[in-house]
Amino acid sequence: MCGIVAYIGKRDAYPILINGLKRLEYRGYDSAGVALLNENDELNVYKTKGKVSDLEKFTIAKDISGHIGIAHTRWATHGEPNDINAHPHLSRSGNIALIHNGIIENYLTIKKELENRGYVFKSSTDTEVLVNLIEDVMLTQKVDLFEATRIALNHVNGAYAIALIEKGHPDTLIAARKGSPMVIGIGKDEYFIASDATPIVGMTSQVVYIENEEVVKVKLGEEMKLKTIDDVEITPYIQELQLNLESIEKGGFEHFMLKEIYEQPTTVRDTMRGRLHADLGTITLGGIFDYEQKILNARNIIIVACGTSWHAGLVGSYLIELYAGIRVKVEYASEFRYRNPVIFPDDVVIAISQSGETADTLAAIEIAKEKGATVLGICNVIGSSISRVTDAGVYTHAGPEIGVASTKAFTAQVAVLTMIAIHLAELNGHLPKSKIMELIHELDLIPEKIQTTLERSAIVKDIAAEMKECHNAIYLGRLQNFPVALEGALKLKEISYIHAEGYPAAEMKHGPIALIDKDMPVIFIATNKSTYEKVVSNVQEVKARHGKIISVVTEGDVLVKEMSDYVIEIPDTECTYAPLLATIPLQLLAYYIAVLRGCNVDQPRNLAKSVTVE
Ligand code: G6P
Repeated sequence: MCGIVAYIGKRDAYPILINGLKRLEYRGYDSAGVALLNENDELNVYKTKGKVSDLEKFTIAKDISGHIGIAHTRWATHGEPNDINAHPHLSRSGNIALIHNGIIENYLTIKKELENRGYVFKSSTDTEVLVNLIEDVMLTQKVDLFEATRIALNHVNGAYAIALIEKGHPDTLIAARKGSPMVIGIGKDEYFIASDATPIVGMTSQVVYIENEEVVKVKLGEEMKLKTIDDVEITPYIQELQLNLESIEKGGFEHFMLKEIYEQPTTVRDTMRGRLHADLGTITLGGIFDYEQKILNARNIIIVACGTSWHAGLVGSYLIELYAGIRVKVEYASEFRYRNPVIFPDDVVIAISQSGETADTLAAIEIAKEKGATVLGICNVIGSSISRVTDAGVYTHAGPEIGVASTKAFTAQVAVLTMIAIHLAELNGHLPKSKIMELIHELDLIPEKIQTTLERSAIVKDIAAEMKECHNAIYLGRLQNFPVALEGALKLKEISYIHAEGYPAAEMKHGPIALIDKDMPVIFIATNKSTYEKVVSNVQEVKARHGKIISVVTEGDVLVKEMSDYVIEIPDTECTYAPLLATIPLQLLAYYIAVLRGCNVDQPRNLAKSVTVE
């Protein structure tokens, strides 16, 4: 969603801000803007609908000088994406410029009050209301911008990450956050502010993560000043940034998504490193070590997540129930948070999130905590909000995921959940030791088998060429391959804009079968051994109705292969591990179809990488 970059220092701010915005493009946006304070104390604001490259074109031959500035990519919430609604927004006097991520829920009430006092608004945004509220506090209470921001934020409900600059103060940046993330980079005689660490990588490795309801003032030549909005001074906690430049660049691939798909042998290995000990036949998960007994004694495990992370959760639920015999429910965080769920203090809630910033998942965690449950996190982004508000957790260590459509984060999440499931079985003895050894040994081979799957996926390009004009597709699978079907369909929808449905294969008879004709591609994930004959029957049902059959099968398969128009083979593995392999060709299929259709793979329309508003 929206992205923030701000700079103050000795260098020219504009190139730093533009490069920072480019690194934030992956979050998804529809307009971009920048405000710069030049040597003559002029506050120049440039903003436009479209991409950061459009903003660059717009600023050609304009004054882009200045050593201090704020820049923004906007993902429209209040008001359509256009030049006027784009950020930064100026206060009535034109002295203050503000950029904002999040939503001010009570902005209409504040707007009315300000209008009654003569304020006139140019845009439909909540952000323009906020900058004027801050200026109003400054004027009426005769305080500086830092103090006015702190006071004004006591009057707003909702989520925000904001950055402000002010005429007459070329050495000072103000920022604050609640809900939406924000990080400050500390360089030598310079500061960077951003909505995630990617714009800061390579600039400095010293960072401070701003906590909820904190306001910060960075002034050249002075120590950073941090306060809560209740006026309590905080000592900034400076940390070492864990990202490097290589991990946020494309490394020779045409798109981030393709790079991330091909990284999976490495990322899944990284997820398991130091945790899966194939030689000893054991698993250690240091992050949740202190909570093992709680999990084993849990009345229910409840997994909360959104999007692809929810699909990983569904795979996890099959594994934990099967291996450890503990009941698991999987909930959409957005539903869970509003339906007053029954949660007991002896329940364990596991929140799964790549970004660690998804607003609905964060809200679900709050509810679980209020009801006394233990909350664990499975996050990819180190230091993210979810990783900080949960009692404990396991990082996926997949490295930064830039493509909006999640790929390597999914396999990493499934790898973590698989380790949790086996480890719980190790602890509660639900499976014999010999089976646990077998599972651990096989899991250790998965990165190699992902590599083999990638090498065997050349056929996927042919299938993509065949499917590129279709309007619909159905993905079918049973048991742990049902979430694979959901994930395959989601990938296709997200990046190629083809309507696709994932279904449990047997449910096909209760509806989707009505859609099948010669133009309908049906993708079967047919790797299960226990339900193989059942899937064969489903394939026959589609064939009888002339549907086009594309199947993902285990190497050596005969029956499904014979009936299919196209076959993708994956290496043989433990049935329950199939999601770690079968998902890969489906990611590639969506990718190649999107490329053939000329879609913007890494930044699909209307989607955001990190959904920080509900
Ligand atoms: C967005 C992203 C998806 C992601 C979902 C949940 O919709 O585009 O790729 O699966 O959010 O995000 P999270 O960061 O919580 O896993």
